[in-house]
Amino acid sequence: MFRRLCWMLAPMVVFMVCGGGEREAAATRERSPDAGVPLQTVLEFEHTARLLAILLDSGRAVINDNQSLFDDRTRADKGFTPDVFERQLVDMFRSRSGVDLTELEEARIPDGAKRLLRELVLVSKQVVADAQPELNRPDVGFKGFIPAVFGARVAARFTERTGVRLKQTALFPRNPRNAPDAMERAALEAFADPAFPREKVISEVTARGGSLRLMFPLYTTRQCLDCHGEPKGELDRTGYPREGLKLGQNAGAISVMIPIRK
Ligand code: HEC
Repeated sequence: MFRRLCWMLAPMVVFMVCGGGEREAAATRERSPDAGVPLQTVLEFEHTARLLAILLDSGRAVINDNQSLFDDRTRADKGFTPDVFERQLVDMFRSRSGVDLTELEEARIPDGAKRLLRELVLVSKQVVADAQPELNRPDVGFKGFIPAVFGARVAARFTERTGVRLKQTALFPRNPRNAPDAMERAALEAFADPAFPREKVISEVTARGGSLRLMFPLYTTRQCLDCHGEPKGELDRTGYPREGLKLGQNAGAISVMIPIRK
């Protein structure tokens, strides 16, 4: 099956908006017009970047699903070991991407993606392992181990180990470290338009073909609204003013930057 691929050529960059389904391969024989990177390479990096974003977001979603367990003050040992986390992560990622992390060798995805996905699972489990004392603290309710905190810790370690940058960002970020750069801002503005197709990513090859950048949109579920929903301006339990987002609205994005070695 061919996925519709539309190219919007901006000066010095290839800017593309590609459809969602993970198992559909985008295919065309053209070359990217300016960057000198073969289109096939661009598509492989784009596929890899999308899978990394889905995996980071799957980890965030697992953390979200277990939030009331973490914040249960009546229970010390939460039993949320790195292995328990991994099993939930594998299920979540399989349902969202169609890729089975337990059978990565056979998966029809780029080899580079396999290596990076393994690394991202490893790093995510390390973050859960390191959080054990925090999660199992007795007599404390809200512990602050939330999707964004998990995501930031995982992203920082992953970037350090692989050189592939992962970042959570939003147009009006709570944490100034998550502030968007120019490319991220343009993509976030596109995602914020209710007419923008759901689940589409935005990616580009930077000038001179230095890296593949991809923005993967995040939409609110009910759980997010506890903190990011209405009433706008009222403090949530993390102490930040709520954004007043509604169900299904864009809440930001995961930004991926993969260096392209020619
Ligand atoms: C318990 C409250 C809470 C929940 C639930 C929550 N968030 Fe957040 N979110 C935060 C906080 C606090 C930050 C800032 C964390 C930091 O200091 O880096 C944040 C940061 C973010 C960011 C990074 C940009 C920024 O504002 O700094 C994104 C994107 C985001 N959240 C999206 C979501 C989505 C999507 C969901 C639901 C799947 C969600 N959040 C659930 C509290 C929450």
